[in-house]
Amino acid sequence: MALALSSTVAPRFLPMRLPKVCLALSGDTVEDMLATAESMAQDNPFIEFRLDYLKQPLAALPKIHRFLETHQYVTAIGTCRRADNGGKFKGSLASQLDVLTKAHAAGCQIVDLELQSAVKSKPEAIARLRSRAGLILSFHDFRATRNLDETLEKMLKIPADFYKVVSTATTLSDNVAMMKFLQTQSGSHALIGLCMGEQGIMSRVLSVRAGSAFTFGAVDANAGLKTAPGQVSARDLRGIYRIEQVDAATRIYGVAGDPIEHSLSPVIMNAALRRENVNGVYLPLHVKTLKSLIHCVREIPLHGLSITMPYKQAILPYLDNTDAHTTKIGACNTVVRGQDGKLYGFNTDIAGVVRPLEQRLSIENAKVLVLGAGGAARAAVFGLKERGAEVWILNRTAVKAQKLARQAKARTIKRADLRKIAFDVIVNATPVGMGNTRDCPLKDEEIQARVVFDMVYDPVETHLLQVARAKGISVIPGIEMFVQQAARQFEIWTGKPAPAGDMLRVVTIALQDRAAAQKQQKS
Ligand code: ATR
Repeated sequence: MALALSSTVAPRFLPMRLPKVCLALSGDTVEDMLATAESMAQDNPFIEFRLDYLKQPLAALPKIHRFLETHQYVTAIGTCRRADNGGKFKGSLASQLDVLTKAHAAGCQIVDLELQSAVKSKPEAIARLRSRAGLILSFHDFRATRNLDETLEKMLKIPADFYKVVSTATTLSDNVAMMKFLQTQSGSHALIGLCMGEQGIMSRVLSVRAGSAFTFGAVDANAGLKTAPGQVSARDLRGIYRIEQVDAATRIYGVAGDPIEHSLSPVIMNAALRRENVNGVYLPLHVKTLKSLIHCVREIPLHGLSITMPYKQAILPYLDNTDAHTTKIGACNTVVRGQDGKLYGFNTDIAGVVRPLEQRLSIENAKVLVLGAGGAARAAVFGLKERGAEVWILNRTAVKAQKLARQAKARTIKRADLRKIAFDVIVNATPVGMGNTRDCPLKDEEIQARVVFDMVYDPVETHLLQVARAKGISVIPGIEMFVQQAARQFEIWTGKPAPAGDMLRVVTIALQDRAAAQKQQKS
């Protein structure tokens, strides 16, 4: 049926220039697949049809054919990966080749065949397939990133139009190996390369810069619609990471932490880079060891890092120099790689605390109560003391409050004495209230001040802020701290003023979207 159809239509040729992102499309039925294709093709004119996900790929091809006939602008890859090689197809080798041949007849200008299937096939059969369609010869390593050059050497024995080498990143350093492989080999061969896994996200964005012909994006990376682990959605690759603009001159930044999946930093920082026309991209870096992170910083190279949990202190021994704030707080949240290759550490959490307050009142001589004595509290206490505030610290564990008070020349206060002082500002630097709107670090009657600043930013409106607002107190949500510490990082890296208003807007929208998605999941 598919072949009969094909003989009546003109062949669809491969465009000279392929888009940088190919949408990897799976689905249990061809109807699901095509409904997604229909809704996404306009923004994603390059689509891989994972025929192996379908129970009867051959029976689905006439429908795919009709879709491609009515969407002439779409460039399509037909893939029917065998279960042994990480796909779902369980038929014979002959039937796999038959599906691919007919996929081409149905309008897929390119077909993907695994190396393992190719070596078992007759060279004439592969040559016949390639005489019709563009051929991607692919190899997937689901365990590690190793022997990339040797793998390519084996693959080159079989003539193909593209050689696709996909490995699994178990450390960030694996991205460096993939990038070097692409840089050295892509001059001589048409390659597609990337690392799977959460630690391989960097390669999914940067591989095109290193020489990969294109990369793959998921339909929706959060909805179980990934066809490979660690896949980023095609929309994020283009919208957040601006992959079509990533080139050799693009500066690379990232946020290093563990876990990192839910970090909002990529959304806010990439929005700032785009807004200020900086040729840069900012990536989430799932760091398992600082050694592998430093390897990437030196080899890729990375120009700047945001450092988050649990590495703000552990990064210190790797830095060549640190600013006064980092030394005082004993933690670093910002790294710059200088032109000399040296690593400089900064702490912008102080700016995160001070800037939102400065916009509301004069900090000098203001009476401030800081709740907590951990890392966040240190930034608040030192920052506020530096600006001439009178600071009292209240902490669950009194000795920690006393220690911090001694270091910063601040005072401690007992909970029973809170009502004795008329505070201008209360800053919550404990995690109490995070993730819910019931917990509160103070009783309602203890919340008395002109301004209440909650460093907790998820939810946006904590119980503490709700009570304060109801009392007519001016409130500062934690996202302002998040935005201002990020804004200061942006300024350190780029030397440009940060678009803080835009950054606040995108992070507010991202938090609202996240809350709505969580609500939907629960219902
Ligand atoms: P961060 O870097 O976010 O400041 P941290 O260094 O672990 O995190 O510090 C958390 C602070 O919040 C500490 O002051 C902690 O009090 P303790 O010193 O007694 O541990 C405080 N904190 C955490 N959970 C708390 C809770 N449930 N009630 C009151 N204070 C809490």
